[in-house]
Amino acid sequence: MRRIGVLTSGGDSPGMNASLRAVVHEAYKNNIDVIAFRQGFSGLIDDNSFEIHIPDVGGIIQRGGTILLTSRSEDFRTAEGQKQALSNIEKHNIEGMVIIGGDGSLHGAQALSDMGVKTIGIPATIDNDIAYTDMAIGVDTALNNIMEVVDKIKDTASSLRRTFIVEVMGRNSGYLAMVSSVVTGAEACIVPEIVPDYENIVNIIKDGYQRGKTNALIIVAEGASTAFQVSKKLKDMEGISTRITTLGHLQRGGSPTCFDRLLATRLGSAAVERLIEGEGGKMAGLVNNRIQLTEFNKVFAKKYDYQEKLFELAQVFGEV
Ligand code: F6P
Repeated sequence: MRRIGVLTSGGDSPGMNASLRAVVHEAYKNNIDVIAFRQGFSGLIDDNSFEIHIPDVGGIIQRGGTILLTSRSEDFRTAEGQKQALSNIEKHNIEGMVIIGGDGSLHGAQALSDMGVKTIGIPATIDNDIAYTDMAIGVDTALNNIMEVVDKIKDTASSLRRTFIVEVMGRNSGYLAMVSSVVTGAEACIVPEIVPDYENIVNIIKDGYQRGKTNALIIVAEGASTAFQVSKKLKDMEGISTRITTLGHLQRGGSPTCFDRLLATRLGSAAVERLIEGEGGKMAGLVNNRIQLTEFNKVFAKKYDYQEKLFELAQVFGEV
């Protein structure tokens, strides 16, 4: 293998740069050239590319976002777009591709693979909604971002004995909401995977105040409801007055944590190693703390592991 291509795609995720850096270093070690495409699959279609070298990835391991830029490309969903992308891959004599991104991007990686391009996908999304990887790149940083802000919100909430509703990202996954509920001691957690029991939530809040708690916190996953809707519900049911905070994109920014830098580096390096060994059509993931490659078909056939136990943990500690 003489030359590979790399791109970051979909919503940016902290650690994408660390992963890119690992791809470039691993390739350099093996005398392989790397062509980087800017702006995800859009850049692959438009041939917005450059040969990327070690100095280009210097000082990026600690940077959030992606220096390659990213996009959610509608054009790559079309046969025309895919044909154009393939012709650019052939034009550059690229023998293997590394695609760093979330669910949609990994489907794009599979499309390349179906066209005969040896492709390895690297899961990078704060949503943690991809099967066959315990964690995706960026999840840990997003959780730390949420935890830091919620701790601050609890300072003001407890000063005024207030109930706060915090809305977090995650698309259709409740992972960010569940974990952040556990680590911030939220009274309740609302996730798309489970129908919320509002009667129970109201009782938990009221009991808590009666037992002397100084605040109440509910974390709601965007895929389940909005902070505004939950606030209205509590008002309508029991006249409970709340304050709301929607964390939004601050969850996705900032310097990647130690965990994300390490995961990104391990996956980036493994992706290149496996391309060299002739593999393709697979995603590199973290399974039981080992790097494991899984066929795209198998990854997409399974729903991500929702981890019911985490929801139970969030509930058990929230109730008392
Ligand atoms: O998939 C990552 C994610 O941050 C989701 O949690 C969120 O729903 C979505 O992207 C937001 O997308 P955008 O940045 O395009 O508004």
